[in-house]
Amino acid sequence: MEKFYITTPIYYPSDNLHIGHTYTTVAADTLKKFKKAQGYDVYLVTGSDEHGQKIQEKAKENHMEPKEYVDGIVADIKKLWDMLEVDYDKFIRTTDKQHEKAVQKIFEKLYQQEDIYKSTYEGLYCTPCESFWSESQLVDGKCPDCGREVQLTKEEAYFFKLSKYRDRIIQLYEENPEFLQPESRKNEMLNNFLKEELEDLCVSRTSFDWGIKVPFDSKHVVYVWIDALLCYITALGYGTENNEKFKKYWPADVHLVGKEIVRFHAIIWPAVLMALDMELPKKVFGHGWILFEDDKMSKSKGNVIYPEPLIELYGIDAFRYFLLREFSFGQDGSFSREKFLQRINSDLANDLGNLVSRTVTMVEKYNDGIIPAPAKEEEIDKSLIEVSTNAKAKVEKNMDKLNYSQALEEIWKVVRRTNKYIDETAPWILAKEGDKERLDTVLYNLTDSIRIIATLVNPFMERTSKEILKQIGLGENINWEDGGIWGKIEPGTKVKRGKVLFPRLDIDKELERLDKANQKLIDERSKKLENKKVEEQYITIDDFEKIEFKVAEIIEAKDHPNADKLLILRLKVGEETRQVVSGIKQYYTPEELVGKKVVIVANLKPIKLRGEESHGMILAAEKDGKLTLVSTLEDIESGAIIS
Ligand code: ME8
Ligand code: MG
Repeated sequence: MEKFYITTPIYYPSDNLHIGHTYTTVAADTLKKFKKAQGYDVYLVTGSDEHGQKIQEKAKENHMEPKEYVDGIVADIKKLWDMLEVDYDKFIRTTDKQHEKAVQKIFEKLYQQEDIYKSTYEGLYCTPCESFWSESQLVDGKCPDCGREVQLTKEEAYFFKLSKYRDRIIQLYEENPEFLQPESRKNEMLNNFLKEELEDLCVSRTSFDWGIKVPFDSKHVVYVWIDALLCYITALGYGTENNEKFKKYWPADVHLVGKEIVRFHAIIWPAVLMALDMELPKKVFGHGWILFEDDKMSKSKGNVIYPEPLIELYGIDAFRYFLLREFSFGQDGSFSREKFLQRINSDLANDLGNLVSRTVTMVEKYNDGIIPAPAKEEEIDKSLIEVSTNAKAKVEKNMDKLNYSQALEEIWKVVRRTNKYIDETAPWILAKEGDKERLDTVLYNLTDSIRIIATLVNPFMERTSKEILKQIGLGENINWEDGGIWGKIEPGTKVKRGKVLFPRLDIDKELERLDKANQKLIDERSKKLENKKVEEQYITIDDFEKIEFKVAEIIEAKDHPNADKLLILRLKVGEETRQVVSGIKQYYTPEELVGKKVVIVANLKPIKLRGEESHGMILAAEKDGKLTLVSTLEDIESGAIIS
């Protein structure tokens, strides 16, 4: 069996996924189902890209450790893929130990062979995009990808010799026109990035530590994009003893990605693979964005559409159908709830659902539910048979170009043609007139055409396909090849009316329901994080007991020689004396302080403040610019423990 390896991107678990995110995965899963139907041995990889500054900051915002934070989101992502019946073969997490080890090995190898070298990095960094930019790449001084502020960063770093691979990448595009699709993306790469010399890529960071450590220099963590791209091979066991999958499936037949990450997949990734002397992926496809009413979806804009309510209320198939049918895969498209509901009504309820229910009803009514043998053909049948049997090749041709929308349109041409055939042949009149032979033929043709539709639609809408097959009396297994052959349904097969495939929707009512469901989910999710924050505001008794409060007597006080606001105090704490530096010079003179008893945190780790040792902290109360030292109500000897 021929293999076919598909990947989705490795998603950032920084927030719950919105419908835009599901686009890549639904497309990848549909391609898998399509290729599988054609007889390929398909492997589909997806996963989560969990390291980096963005995730670290996000976790901190939510008072969690990074791993704890991503674990929660990753669980939600997996739940979402299950909900959508995504049939992935491997979910790789960049925090998987096996992946981390493989990345370290690869990094070290590239360093040994001098494709990675050490230098200093000075530049502009966009944290949300985890991308470096040069001044000239900025748009209005902001990140050209997302339009947010960039930060000036200067640090010691490792670099990957990307510059060395420019010519080979251009050559790759020239020699393999299929490598980067659609065409427009290729032009974008050639004109925006490959026109001039490529700069070497900074592939390590020291300003945060949530990442895979550089094995020979543990101050550094590996740049998240190098970490994440390598998932495509580590998911297959590359770098471990168990690498049969890698041998079998690599190179990828297609990496499906959104347009904003084409650069990483079509320039950086092949360059890394070239450095590793490995086979290159056969194709990178950069699809367009799903916008919300022409704007980019984002949590901060408050226009996020979560997929869960759409799936819960209208089913997996309606959701998947809409995504793949409404938008042209290579281009941007605009989502609206109205469009979604209207498509369900027109394409699914009216066209497909009606066709199946009308046909099954007629077979039941006119022939006791038995599919008759055709007996009297007429000229008009030819066009139905032609449209039906030609569709498979057209679907295949479009799917090879990842033109999902047109592939579905080809199937719907059959749906519409078949509906029209009912009107043209008017079986109810044939029944009334007693033209049994012609009626039998019409009923047979209708069910066989529906069989073809159910077969072709299977990779896109598996449940619907199976339900239709059941209603026309066939088993659930499809035979893809039969999708292009007429006459495969056996006369004598018994149909069975089942549930309505897609009930017609009252759009206004549904809009209201959807709004409520989406809002409910948003509230639940923010509440979950809020609860966590409230919990994190408390300390436990164990935390409290770590702190040692004591009474101390000030026996000496003087100005700090190198600081305006600091005093240096000598304290007696029971038997011992110690020095504490305190920022209270604005409030007390040294003379006032000597002889006073104060409260200190005694076990605070000593530090130097402007060159003077400070061992402990004096407590003070402050409000509206007024400050007073904390003391005990009655006099008590220094060294007394406060608890
Ligand atoms: O980029 N419309 O992950 P990600 C269409 N971790 N697609 C959209 C979209 C929208 N509105 N919003 C997001 C990353 N996507 C990296 C990938 S791969 C080695 C590392 C798509 O979670 C986006 O284009 O930001 C991408 O394909 C996918 O969702 C994951 O995006
Ligand atoms: Mg992104």
